[in-house]
Amino acid sequence: MEVIIQPTREAAALLTAKVIADEVRKNPSAVLGFATGATVEPVYANLIEMHHKEGLDFSLCKSFNLDEYVGLSGDHPGSYRYFMNSHLFDHINIDKRNTRVPNGMASDLAAECLTYEEAIWHAGGIDLQLVGIGMDGHIGFNEPMSSLQSRTRVKQLNPVTIRQNAGYFGGADKMPRRAITMGVGTILDSQRCVLLATGSAKAEILAEAIEGPFCARVTASALQWHRRAVVIVDEACAANLKNREYYDWSFAHEPEWAPFRG
Ligand code: GLP
Repeated sequence: MEVIIQPTREAAALLTAKVIADEVRKNPSAVLGFATGATVEPVYANLIEMHHKEGLDFSLCKSFNLDEYVGLSGDHPGSYRYFMNSHLFDHINIDKRNTRVPNGMASDLAAECLTYEEAIWHAGGIDLQLVGIGMDGHIGFNEPMSSLQSRTRVKQLNPVTIRQNAGYFGGADKMPRRAITMGVGTILDSQRCVLLATGSAKAEILAEAIEGPFCARVTASALQWHRRAVVIVDEACAANLKNREYYDWSFAHEPEWAPFRG
């Protein structure tokens, strides 16, 4: 795992977008794993700008989203399909038929989860997966104590998560209680994984996830097991990290990062 600390939230989001753009340029038919949430909104805004100004081409890309609420259709403003269309897909040249978000309205949810896993497999697996982190340390909706080998399935949401996302629904009582989410094992299968976390509110859980023990209580800690994970944070979110000197040194000197340094 590599850790990159950027001075601001904007710089962290821009670097994340550059890493995704680099993947798309090197592999135009990349299979991208997308995430939702306020943290990744500026990443998508940067990708849209790169599409318009630099011709970043998504026409051959496929995508899979991490998760979706059970019971919400894609036209519900709180759904993750709606989020992805409005924050990214409607503004770039990806073929929407090649974008998948789990179907939260499926009558057979178990079958939907299985089909989702199969679709990822048929696409050749995910080349680059973007993830955020929840206040309880989740990735996707892999709430505490999720199996670290889990695959796409339905999870009961943590009250912490319900409180965190209630604003999107006009109150916790209107929030869905369950979601379909890629499993931790699904995420670990990606060739590359980029975790973006910003803001002081996540400093404590972020440090637990990346410098604490590898454990099911904080499912983001599973990224320590990922073959090629990079964690991008802003100063505020890096406040509790202990190995800061090494992270900064490594980013400053690692040749692979040279094109990404300011
Ligand atoms: C939800 C999503 C996560 C995301 C998290 C963080 O819980 N399921 O994938 O990482 O929100 O959201 P935010 O970026 O708004 O803090």
